[in-house]
Amino acid sequence: MWDRSGWESQLLETGFLGIFLCPLWTLSRLPRKTPPSRVVLWGFRWLIFRIMLGAGLIKVRGDQCWRDLTCMDFHYETQPVPNPVAYFLHRSPWWVHRFETLSNHFLELVVPFFIFLGRRMCILHGALQILFQVVLIVSGNLSFLNWLTIVPSVACFDDAALGFLFPSGPGGLQDQVLKMQKEEAREARPTPMFGRMVRQAANLALGILVAWLSIPVVLNLLSPKQVMNSSFNPLRIVNTYGAFGSITRERTEVILQGTASPNASAPDTVWEDYEFKCKPGDLRRRPCLISPYHYRLDWLMWFAAFQTYEHHEWVIHLAGKLLANDAEALSLLALNPFADRAPPRWVRGEHYRYKFSRPGGLHAADGKWWIRKRIGPYFPPLNLRDLKDYFRSREWPFPELE
Ligand SMILES: *[C@@H]1O[C@H](CO)[C@@H](O)[C@H](O)[C@H]1NC(C)=O
Repeated sequence: MWDRSGWESQLLETGFLGIFLCPLWTLSRLPRKTPPSRVVLWGFRWLIFRIMLGAGLIKVRGDQCWRDLTCMDFHYETQPVPNPVAYFLHRSPWWVHRFETLSNHFLELVVPFFIFLGRRMCILHGALQILFQVVLIVSGNLSFLNWLTIVPSVACFDDAALGFLFPSGPGGLQDQVLKMQKEEAREARPTPMFGRMVRQAANLALGILVAWLSIPVVLNLLSPKQVMNSSFNPLRIVNTYGAFGSITRERTEVILQGTASPNASAPDTVWEDYEFKCKPGDLRRRPCLISPYHYRLDWLMWFAAFQTYEHHEWVIHLAGKLLANDAEALSLLALNPFADRAPPRWVRGEHYRYKFSRPGGLHAADGKWWIRKRIGPYFPPLNLRDLKDYFRSREWPFPELE
């Protein structure tokens, strides 16, 4: 499963390296004489190598379906927040899913080594990784993670490789850069200056730091007991990553419901569903498209649905806020059935199994993207009064009725 801190660490590490792209001390000389340091470029390449290889190894070690190539039979439906493309890709023929799984292994286990095979292979690696991330962006709402993963892949492209992006012809940007580079090549070795030396010392120190902090990361990659998304130092700047080390075979959802009825167990009680911004709920609502935006609450509900509320007590915290019609909590939802009404008397969580409807099938013709089956209660009907002790024992502020 995906540790929640994995992305923050990746963001932190990418940003930390990015700082060193800024030419220390010699800011005034941008951009002519301050090419990015090789240490930083290799830092980015080393980062993307670890991200990819870590993700590939954790898969083949973590779940049988990555070894028998069936993971993609499930992934589109069971991934955190499916999008409409996933709805259709899910129905691809079996051999397409095998091919997708094999391609994933190729991109995560083989392509990373291209980085070390010279300029051309590094460029090929960068191009394939960017393509891979774009495919992932199109086929699921994995927040900003794929966009973030594109960043270190860019470190394989040099000016010559990126030249096609800029205006060519005499006087164009390509032309100017070429002239500059020629001029620079003609110049004698630059006299050592204080600023340059400071910068080199800083880069050298960075290189040594990253190499030193990489030791436990490499040991982890080599270990059959590999862990994913962990930091081995409090700075969290050289980490180990991974994603979808195991694939759930069935999609479960927690559906929050409220009722205005005073008696939650009366047979005529009407329960109304709260709707999240993106996660599956209403069967007729089209799966959403949000990348690179990230609805964190929807994402956490995906984790919550794997287990019971005892493992995710914050769900009860949320239920308490719904019982008080808490405006901030409700702003994270798409639909509050008790808007402009008294807050619900009771709130409960129901546990469902969700499946995509079949395109062109009976349910789809009825406008349903999903079909669902109730598993049982996720948490029992709760009212605000009964939650007082639960909140107090956890030192949560008790929600005020608005
Ligand atoms: C609520 O409804 C149930 C089932 O009809 C009934 O047994 C129970 O007495 C009711 N509770 C109250 C407080 O009315």
